[in-house]
Amino acid sequence: MKKCVLVSGGAGFIGSHVTVELLEAGYDVIVADNMSNCDMTCFEGVKKITGREDIPFVKMDFCDPVATELLFTTHEIDAVIHFAGFKAVGESVAEPLKYYRNNLESFINVIESAKAHGCGNILFSSSATVYGEPEKLPVTEESPRQPATSPYGNTKQMCEDILRDSVKAYSGIRGIALRYFNPIGAHPSALIGELPRGVPNNLVPFITQTAIGKRECLSVFGNDYPTPDGTCQRDFIDVVDLAKAHVFAVRRMLEDKMKNEYEIFNIGTGKPLSVMELINGFEKANSLKLNYKIAPRRPGDVTAIWADPTLANEELGWKAERDIEDTLAAAWAWEKHIAGE
Ligand code: UD1
Repeated sequence: MKKCVLVSGGAGFIGSHVTVELLEAGYDVIVADNMSNCDMTCFEGVKKITGREDIPFVKMDFCDPVATELLFTTHEIDAVIHFAGFKAVGESVAEPLKYYRNNLESFINVIESAKAHGCGNILFSSSATVYGEPEKLPVTEESPRQPATSPYGNTKQMCEDILRDSVKAYSGIRGIALRYFNPIGAHPSALIGELPRGVPNNLVPFITQTAIGKRECLSVFGNDYPTPDGTCQRDFIDVVDLAKAHVFAVRRMLEDKMKNEYEIFNIGTGKPLSVMELINGFEKANSLKLNYKIAPRRPGDVTAIWADPTLANEELGWKAERDIEDTLAAAWAWEKHIAGE
């Protein structure tokens, strides 16, 4: 019998890539999304990539406990990957209650229904943002979490704690939190990718929109950081590599391979890249020149963070494999695809 994975927020950037990888690994998938921050572009892309017209899709809001309960009543679900949530750092500072209500309520509803229906395998999409400005690099899963600098970051920490405490209190529930570093890129087919609404906050969508002419000029936020070239350093992880990590994590849960009932894994490459290195890489990968300028630092940015991914490498058997130039070529192919070029 095929195992069935519910992907909440499955029509979004990461959720759609994870759906592809799960289907290709032989799992059944139910995609559920309230479509508050995306359209059907990526879900349609998932169908094209996988050749599957029959992927169940449920338009629903996980903040609605009745709808959540109904989903679990009407489907046999073996594992849940929870992506549904708001993710704009700046907006979360301006509207904290919106973030706390949405991100916490939806996750609580998912765990409650999963628990009631004996579906004990829950994977939460967390973030390296929980490490704040790390004292020691690279960060391991043992590195201390720092007080969150935004309500968005706080909801990531709180959801981790909600999962940890639920696992401890309720028998039959186990959980994995994957802490993503900076997911970038797009599927090599260029049929799914990131579709930010309005002005992008994140670096790569801003780069691709500048390259295509939607934005005039990229601002590099600060070149006076204590790093080799003065710009911030991040662990940019290809979204397809990141998506594959979920397949390994789900398999670990479903095949009873977990060593603890609650586990945390860093999902990164282990290699730092600076903002300038990324820009240069984009220009080289795509043989173009980008219009950029040096601008003041962006408040709230950390200087440098990258993962020690050893635990995920050894325990999940997963490793980031894609070459950064391929990743940046895929990001550009996706931007051109959505521009209709
Ligand atoms: C941000 C969030 C993080 C979230 C992640 C999701 C903050 C403080 N953190 O991480 O919580 O999990 O996105 O992907 O917002 N940059 C520029 N010019 C730009 C945009 C970005 O120079 O137009 C620089 C930033 O200063 C930063 C780097 O690029 O040094 C990466 O920025 P971004 O893509 O926004 O990711 P993070 O800030 O690392």
